[in-house]
Amino acid sequence: MEYKEKIDIRLEVIEKMDEVNAMPQITLDLMGLINEHGTSVSDIANKVKLDEALAAYILRNCNSPLYGIKTEINSIPQALTLLGLSTIKKILMSYINKNLYSISGNNEIKNELWVHSVTVAAFSEAIAGKLKINQEQAYLAGLLHDIGKLIIYSSDNTAYEEVLERIDSSENESFVIEEELLGFNHMEIGLLAMTKWKFFKDIIEVAQFHHSKKHFNKKNKYIGVIAFANLLTYQELDERLVDLSYFLKKYKLSENQLEKIILTGLELKKTYLEF
Ligand SMILES: [Fe+2]
Ligand SMILES: [Fe+2]
Repeated sequence: MEYKEKIDIRLEVIEKMDEVNAMPQITLDLMGLINEHGTSVSDIANKVKLDEALAAYILRNCNSPLYGIKTEINSIPQALTLLGLSTIKKILMSYINKNLYSISGNNEIKNELWVHSVTVAAFSEAIAGKLKINQEQAYLAGLLHDIGKLIIYSSDNTAYEEVLERIDSSENESFVIEEELLGFNHMEIGLLAMTKWKFFKDIIEVAQFHHSKKHFNKKNKYIGVIAFANLLTYQELDERLVDLSYFLKKYKLSENQLEKIILTGLELKKTYLEF
């Protein structure tokens, strides 16, 4: 690909990012609620009232066995009181995430990207549970870690399809192929988009560094956790021989504990895919 073409595509990606950013106001407001520190349950209730589809989504989700609530929840205020803020934030983000994938493009590809994001979120949550770190943050960081891929795909379906084809037939990691073919990678684009959306620093750093081993030991624990979860999904997908020894040692996990994490992750994944 010519240098000039690469520059053109990059510009398009950035422009398209603005389009993605021009999401419905309600979505932007919801992202604000997720990222603000002082968000209260009533702030969320007021916003949810304005979006019927979101209200229905929340009700459907909160009756999931995952949350172990015995009584049937049939109103939003009841859902908010019973589930608490952090679970509601998780549900909001999965709703936003699902909507982000309604861009134009091949359904199979979009579905593959979406399933990957949900799977990494589920494994991240399972790992965080074992390590006793914030599971909701791990879920959000996992869900959004590859958002750059979706944004690149939305800006130019054909160019990214070429990248995906090359990934399938190559030993190289996705970002290496992106750099070869496009001149930039999904981490750079993820960083730009999430900075624009004003996400928490920890979650932005995950999008930025999840392929960079020297950052796995950073103070921000989510980078290592999401990188580990990402690796687990490769193993699950195509039985590629994945070397987990680095993470097993880092987190002092036995084979038995790893197995438990995987089982919990797969259970969560099943539930989240049905949402
Ligand atoms: Fe990635
Ligand atoms: Fe990934």
